[in-house]
Amino acid sequence: MKGLVLSGGEGTRLRPITHTSAKQLIPVANKPVLFYGLEAIREAGITEVGIIVGDTWQEIQEAAGDGSRWGLKITYIRQEAPLGLAHAVLAAEEFIGDEAFVMYLGDNIIKDGIKDLVNEFRSQRPNSQILLVSVPNPSQFGVAELQDGKVVRLEEKPEKPKSDLALVGVYMFDANIFKAAKAIKPSWRNELEITDAIQWLIDHEYKVVPHLVTGWWKDTGKLEDMLDANRLILDTIEARIEGDVDEGSTIQFRVIIEKGAEIQNSVIRGPAIIGAKTVIRNAYVGPFTSIDANCRVDNVEIQHSIVCEKTVIMDHPSQRTFRIEDSLIGTNVEIKRTTQKPRAHRFLLGDSSKVELL
Ligand code: TTP
Repeated sequence: MKGLVLSGGEGTRLRPITHTSAKQLIPVANKPVLFYGLEAIREAGITEVGIIVGDTWQEIQEAAGDGSRWGLKITYIRQEAPLGLAHAVLAAEEFIGDEAFVMYLGDNIIKDGIKDLVNEFRSQRPNSQILLVSVPNPSQFGVAELQDGKVVRLEEKPEKPKSDLALVGVYMFDANIFKAAKAIKPSWRNELEITDAIQWLIDHEYKVVPHLVTGWWKDTGKLEDMLDANRLILDTIEARIEGDVDEGSTIQFRVIIEKGAEIQNSVIRGPAIIGAKTVIRNAYVGPFTSIDANCRVDNVEIQHSIVCEKTVIMDHPSQRTFRIEDSLIGTNVEIKRTTQKPRAHRFLLGDSSKVELL
């Protein structure tokens, strides 16, 4: 069995971060989202993995490499444009051949992994198995209708959902999915939809069965969901302090401080993670915060946020008024107080940036 991880796409809902980098590489608890999926696939005993890539192919390839660090063999497959999940499946036809495979959306994290799903598929051998989760707001998802243990209908964001079972971003297929993906037409948004391809399988008497997940699952396609995923993963970390913490600092609850990090005269209240060589000075880092490697945080209070690598956030010691919450701050960003005249805010912001000032 092979694995297919979808890591192309446009990521419009995470602009401006996705103007310059891949959303699948945004760190959750300081680890790229994509790596959670690769680890889940390896844990399920699959070693041959194709990664679908688009315009951001280079940085995805640099980050995941040949996969040997996870015991995987990764092949990169270029999708010429993000024309839908079923289109991505077609791009992988040659790589998959006539094997069965698990398709995993590269921006999804599933707490309990996919081992049970893959094992169930291996033993039952249906044509397709889809991962479902019970949600309170099914009309915001693709929803499955079940009958006698089989999936009989899929509906995209239905007004009157027939069940509360939403599709999670992991699917098992055999090679019949290629027939389905070739038979369907693009949707109103001009994408070849995987739900249409699965509905085609159902309508042509192929066996599509559900697998229900009970643990949490997150599609990190939007800011709130990315912060949620960060919170849920940080909630599971074990404390580990490998960097330097000076006497004026307090570490509360579960905190990871990586090698080479320096915590000076600060309070870090976990769950939180501070990356390698990051310096935190005269600051408060509150719960559910991930600050990646080589950052500098001075005279600032920050919580429930993700800060990517090499970013500098500094207030003036006499002010210490920056209080940051619910934020996703990219790589190499600078947020600083200035004493320069005239007194004013000065910005250099990319398209679709969002700034909220007090
Ligand atoms: P989506 O989040 O559904 O789509 P998107 O990445 O284009 O984001 P947005 O809606 O904000 O513009 O995609 C789910 C996953 O599948 C994600 O990891 C990107 C990947 N993908 C592809 O690889 N090829 C595609 O054609 C599409 C649509 C998505």
